[in-house]
Amino acid sequence: MTQHFLALHDYTKDELDALLALAADLKGKQKGGVPHRLLDGKSVALIFEKASTRTRVSFEVGVFQLGGHALFMPSGSSQMGRGEPIKDSARVMSRYCDGVMIRTFGQEIVEEFAKYSDVPVINGLTDLFHPCQIMADLQTVAEHKGRYAGLKFAWIGDGNNMANTWIEAAALFGFELRLACPAGYEPDSTVMAWARAKAPGLIFLTTDPKAAVAGADVVNTDVWASMGQEAEQKERETAFAGYCLDDALLALAKPDCIVLHCLPAHRGEEISDSVIEGKHSVVWDEAENRLHIQKAIMATLIK
Ligand code: CP
Ligand code: NVA
Repeated sequence: MTQHFLALHDYTKDELDALLALAADLKGKQKGGVPHRLLDGKSVALIFEKASTRTRVSFEVGVFQLGGHALFMPSGSSQMGRGEPIKDSARVMSRYCDGVMIRTFGQEIVEEFAKYSDVPVINGLTDLFHPCQIMADLQTVAEHKGRYAGLKFAWIGDGNNMANTWIEAAALFGFELRLACPAGYEPDSTVMAWARAKAPGLIFLTTDPKAAVAGADVVNTDVWASMGQEAEQKERETAFAGYCLDDALLALAKPDCIVLHCLPAHRGEEISDSVIEGKHSVVWDEAENRLHIQKAIMATLIK
């Protein structure tokens, strides 16, 4: 059966740790100028139904560094954008390409594509999950903290694709995660139920950002209105008042805490300029690690 990368819950902790170890190895090789052409002669299609900077550039450059060829396919320039069935697109692209990355809306779209694809499909963000990003985040935590086990993670803001994926990561890797989300903006209830059943007593949900941040080693936030929710921006600004990760809130975390943000950031909304530019922020390492972890994922899946 073709192995895809659609959600963390399809993987074991050991398998995810192996991807993180390979990402660290490939990062060392890339920095040291050591060739690692693990996708020599392979082609990977990159389908985007939403905007992107990091995902597009890191996948495209990553495929190049692995010796392969990337095809950038924004929606609107392919027949998928004109309504060609996903299952038809998947079967056709499998005949040309060795792997496919998709950024889209519903998780069911990447699942449908994967069901009909003979080549590995990688989730580059859906409304439900952003698994490549959380793997890059974990690589960043390991680099700065030497580990992730035993650390306390805090999530401040929307119960969105990032929050849902952190919940799956907490359950799989076994760390404590405290999420502060306004009422009505909680994470996906099915994801939460799955994670709490898998790892009882590790995942806490509150409406109080201070309670979530207190004593945290890793503090993480994201935009209040994700892609596709732009029309809700104003009502979300009202609902998320008090959820800005600023210096006063961050002062409640451990003195040596690190701050993550998947970017793009809206300074003055979910995060203050002083925090994202401050000494706890590791967001640029986090962005860089998208390159390394995705190379590890592609090199592992694409044969
Ligand atoms: N973090 C992230 O996925 O960024 P892009 O939307 O720029 O790809
Ligand atoms: N939650 C954000 C993440 C962007 C990388 C979004 O879906 O727009």
